[in-house]
Amino acid sequence: MRPTILVTKHVFPETVAFLKQHAEVDYADTQDGLTSEELIARARGKQAIVSQFTDALSGAVIAGMKGLGMIAHVGVGFDNIDVAAATANGMLVSNTPGVLDDTTADHAFALMLATARRVPDGDAFVRSGQWKRWNLELNIGLDVHHRTLGILGMGRIGQALAKRAGGFSMRVLYHNRTRLAPEIESELKATWVEKDQLMRESDFVSIHVPLNDSTRHLMGEAELRAMKPTAILVNTARGPVVNEAALANALSEHWIAGAGLDVFEREPQVDAALLTCKNVVMAPHCASASVATRSKMTMIAAENALAALTGQKPPNLLNPTLWDSWAFRPTGAK
Ligand code: 8YV
Repeated sequence: MRPTILVTKHVFPETVAFLKQHAEVDYADTQDGLTSEELIARARGKQAIVSQFTDALSGAVIAGMKGLGMIAHVGVGFDNIDVAAATANGMLVSNTPGVLDDTTADHAFALMLATARRVPDGDAFVRSGQWKRWNLELNIGLDVHHRTLGILGMGRIGQALAKRAGGFSMRVLYHNRTRLAPEIESELKATWVEKDQLMRESDFVSIHVPLNDSTRHLMGEAELRAMKPTAILVNTARGPVVNEAALANALSEHWIAGAGLDVFEREPQVDAALLTCKNVVMAPHCASASVATRSKMTMIAAENALAALTGQKPPNLLNPTLWDSWAFRPTGAK
């Protein structure tokens, strides 16, 4: 019997074609995604779902999907999924780490440059026909090269950003719960510091921590006030890691010089005060959005689901200890 898989939202045609080679596919080909009720109803009788971060897979929704075997998530962050509830309900959960590290780090760097060098301001100025004469201070901004970059959260994406900073002759500080091995620190030329030192000394603070109870509002008023008035905050991780109301104050009262934001506290809504700030460059949660990377992410999620359902332990399980007792594991599987 071929497994049945629900794809909860629009993905790329090649991913659907690949899934259809091996499974019966219920494809919710919509850009809006499904409501919780629709998710529960359509997951019924399926062995797996291929989900995205806009699917709010809370404990209640997961309990409603009881009988489902697996959540194969497209993306590395999984704060939209109650993994403990999934495990308790016998569902494997997988994500897609690694494949998006460089693309996300590129975008963080792009936001640093765009904010410091005011790329969107310059574009708007030229486009709107305001460019009538040139002067020394036209679209004047801040340097990135030879400045200090503070990386908050030094996992794979933070490390990919540190590598890019080397090319711009930047000094790299980082703060992470655990220190990197000395040989990795010296390869990246990155120095571990306490969080408050990172805030005080960095010209750019870039956030790369996952969202969980210990990182919610990790950047609040105290941290923003500790930053230099010439410093720029970049967030490509998760919006709720930053207290958005405090950030709007920091920007409008010039505690800091600017922010480059790819993520927001209540996406797709953006704090009204933040929208009025001139010194912020915003993007719609698209740090991993290159054609190649997004395509690979959906294919990896599909591969994770099909691997499990054909009896091979997927490499990206978030609850791997469930594998041995997983009810959907085909007989004879390793
Ligand atoms: C994706 C992301 O856009 O991987 C993540 O954690 O935030 C993004 O790369 C998203 O997860 C797609 O579902």
